[in-house]
Amino acid sequence: IVGILICLCVVLYTNNSAAKSVADINRDRLFHLREVCERTNNGGKTAIETSFYIHVKNESLLYCLVFKSGTTSWFYNINRWAGISEEKILDDKTDNFMLARKMHPWENPRVLLTSMKNTYSFIVVRDPFERLISAYEERLLGQIHPYFKNLSHQIYKRYHDDGQEFGIPSFQDFARYVVDQFRNKKPSDLHWRPINDLCTPCLARYDSIMKMETFAQDLEYLKNRTHLHEKIKSVQMNHSRRDPIKRLIEKYYSQLTKQQFDDLYDIYKIDFELFQYSPDKYAKFVKPTE
Ligand SMILES: *[C@@H]1O[C@H](CO)[C@@H](O)[C@H](O)[C@H]1NC(C)=O
Ligand SMILES: *[C@@H]1O[C@H](CO)[C@@H](O)[C@H](O)[C@H]1NC(C)=O
Ligand SMILES: *[C@@H]1O[C@H](CO)[C@@H](O)[C@H](O)[C@H]1NC(C)=O
Ligand SMILES: *[C@@H]1O[C@H](CO)[C@@H](O)[C@H](O)[C@H]1NC(C)=O
Repeated sequence: IVGILICLCVVLYTNNSAAKSVADINRDRLFHLREVCERTNNGGKTAIETSFYIHVKNESLLYCLVFKSGTTSWFYNINRWAGISEEKILDDKTDNFMLARKMHPWENPRVLLTSMKNTYSFIVVRDPFERLISAYEERLLGQIHPYFKNLSHQIYKRYHDDGQEFGIPSFQDFARYVVDQFRNKKPSDLHWRPINDLCTPCLARYDSIMKMETFAQDLEYLKNRTHLHEKIKSVQMNHSRRDPIKRLIEKYYSQLTKQQFDDLYDIYKIDFELFQYSPDKYAKFVKPTE
């Protein structure tokens, strides 16, 4: 009998995992988030951070934007719906967040919490350390935006005493900077601020947690649930780089010492836990201690 039961269980289990629908995966993510929030005292938060929620009333959609995690696609849609031209939205110099905010005013905490109950509410997340790679490459290496160009040189100067005015910081410099800013209680830039600080997910209510890693299927699910099939369009992104992500992980995380890695992990640990990511694929490249 025990044998039969085990067999049955194995069959049920494998069937179950093979047939896991996107709806099931989403339910697991939401459930897991709840669990971690309970265990961590709501990620250490007592008040909801409202700044990055966009309530698109016309579509009954509420989005918390996590910079470096799918914002381009959502700005493309949200701002297009508001009548802004595609050309303008895709222009590098356009501040899409400011545009979106103009059309969809900020809501105070009480109003926002009510909106969450009455709309389709969602967030798009990303592996925290992949998000850091993306922020580093786009903002500090990219050198497109004057503000970040300057910041890039400032970071270089902070960690190199060679008199170079326009040095480009390494990923290790960037990691040290992120840790130092955190230790000195300086606000961290939106592009690498932990999701727990941007959206306070433990104090929010979401219908779906989308991930960059499974964006296509998660978007399909959201479309099914919101009946926005016709309205949501995909943007064609033309990225110039694209070393495979595996190579980038090795290239950048092998620059860090164990101590630097651990310090960085401490800052993003809550994001890793809330959204079920693992630091293992990064940790294995960290410099062995001499
Ligand atoms: C919402 O819909 C109304 C009526 O169709 C329209 O006048 C308004 O411009 C829309 N608002 C936005 C921000 O798209
Ligand atoms: C660059 O950043 C430094 C430090 O934040 C600031 O003092 C300086 O004015 C900035 N320079 C430019 C050109 O923005
Ligand atoms: C979306 O709906 C279609 C049609 O009902 C269904 O075939 C598909 O599996 C659904 N996709 C997701 C990801 O929910
Ligand atoms: C990407 O390239 C295509 C074809 O050249 C162009 O139509 C599209 O606007 C570009 N997308 C962006 C985001 O620049």
